[in-house]
Amino acid sequence: MASLGHDVVGIDRDSERIASLAAGRAPFFEPGLDRLLAEQLASDRLRFSADMSDAASAEVHFLAVGTPQGPGGAADLSHLESALDALRPALASGALVVGKSTVPVGTAARLAEIVAARGARLAWNPEFLREGHAIDDTLRPDRIVYGVVGEADAAVLDAVYAGVLSHGMPRIVTDLATAELVKTAANAFLATKISFINAMAEVAEASGADVARLAEAIGHDPRIGHRFLGAGVGFGGGCLPKDIRAFQARADELGVGEALAFLGEVDRINQRRRDRVVTLAAELLGGDVAGRRIAVLGLAFKPDSDDVRDSPALDIAVRLHAAGAHVRATDPHAIPAARRVQPELDYRDTLDEALSRAELVLLLTEWREYRLLDPAATRIRVSGLRLIDGRNALDAEAWRAAGWDYRALGRAFASRGIAAPAAVGALDV
Ligand code: UDX
Repeated sequence: MASLGHDVVGIDRDSERIASLAAGRAPFFEPGLDRLLAEQLASDRLRFSADMSDAASAEVHFLAVGTPQGPGGAADLSHLESALDALRPALASGALVVGKSTVPVGTAARLAEIVAARGARLAWNPEFLREGHAIDDTLRPDRIVYGVVGEADAAVLDAVYAGVLSHGMPRIVTDLATAELVKTAANAFLATKISFINAMAEVAEASGADVARLAEAIGHDPRIGHRFLGAGVGFGGGCLPKDIRAFQARADELGVGEALAFLGEVDRINQRRRDRVVTLAAELLGGDVAGRRIAVLGLAFKPDSDDVRDSPALDIAVRLHAAGAHVRATDPHAIPAARRVQPELDYRDTLDEALSRAELVLLLTEWREYRLLDPAATRIRVSGLRLIDGRNALDAEAWRAAGWDYRALGRAFASRGIAAPAAVGALDV
C-alpha cells in the first residue's frame, strides 16, 4: 500500500513484531519483502505501531489477521474479533473497514453491524496472494474482488487500488457474502485439483501408469489446464488445509453439509500421500525405518517460503523420526520455524550435512537448489543410493542412470525397473 503511494500505518498487538518491522526486518521469509520494506520505510509513507489509537486518522482500515483452524475444523475468528474490538474506539464516522481475512460466509454481515454502530462502513476484499509470490500477487493480482454494501464503498476501494487497477485486471464488485465465498471457493477448487491428480497418482501406482505424463496430457485441454496438477506429497500451508475444513464446517451450519462432503475426501486423499511416503520409505529400507539414516530435503510447505504450517515435509520427517529413524532434515529457510514447533528433530544447516551417510534421501519441498542436485555428485555424499522424489521434481532417468533406486509418487515405472520416460519438466504452480 505504501509503494502504491498511500500513507500507511501497520498495527499489531505484538510489540516485538512491530519493533522488528520498524527496523526493516520482515517477521518471515518472503522473496523481495525485506527490500520493499526498507524502501518504503525510507520513503516515510510507512510506519508501524502497537497502539491502535495511531489508526484513528485513517480513512481506510484493512483487517488482515489470521483465521486459523479452530475446534472441529471451524475457523477461529477470535483474532479478527479482538482486532475489530480494539479498532472500534479509533474508528471515525465515515471510515471504511476492509476485511482481508478468509472467513466463513456470513461473518462480514455480522461485523458490518458492529462497524455501523460507529458510523463507519465495512467491505470485504479477499486476498488471493500465494506465499513466495506475495509481492507480485499483491501489486499485480489476476483479479480484484470487492464485497460492498454500496457503490460509494467500491469507489473508495478503486481509489485505494488505483495503482493496481491501472494494469487492467478484472475487478468484480459484489455483495459481502459472495466476496467471502469467492475466497473459500477458490481455495477449495485448488485443493480439489491437487487431490484429483494425487488420486490419479494412487491409481497410476496400482496400474503401472505414470501420473506426470497423465497430467501433462490432460493439461493440454484448456478446460483443464496444466497448473496445480503437480502430483506429490500434496498440499499444506496455512490456507488450503484449514480453509477446506472451515468451509465444510460452515456448510454444515448452513444445513448444506452434503454439498461439500467431497472436501472431506479431498483432505483424506491429501493425507494419504504422506502415509504413502512413510510406507515407501520403510519398503525401500527393507521393511523398517528404525535405526536407519534418512535425509529429508525440505521442511517448508512449499519452496520460497519458511512457513511450516501443516507442511507435508515436516509431518513426514516427524513421523519417520517417531518410527525410530535417524532423520537429518534440512531446508534453505525453514529450519528456525520447524525447530520452534518440532524441536526434537535433527536439523542440519547444509545439504552436505543432511546427506552425509544417508541410506535414503527424501525430497519433500522442491527448492530450486534441490531440483538442481546432480545425481552423480550426490552419490558420493550418501551411503545408500535410494531416493524418494516426493514432488516429482527430478529427472527420473538421469537419477536412475546414475545408479539410484529412484522412486516417485504416482509413477509406477519408478518402482518396477521400467525405463523412465523423458523428464516432464517443472511443476507448473
Ligand atoms: C494458497 C492459494 O494459492 C492462494 O490463492 C491463497 O491466497 C492462499 O492459499 P499458498 O498457501 O501460498 O496459496 O500456496 P499454493 O501455491 O496454493 O500451494 C499450496 C500447497 O499445494 C503447497 O503445499 C504446494 O506444494 C501444493 N501444490 C501446489 C501441490 O502439491 N501441487 C501443485 O500442483 C500445486
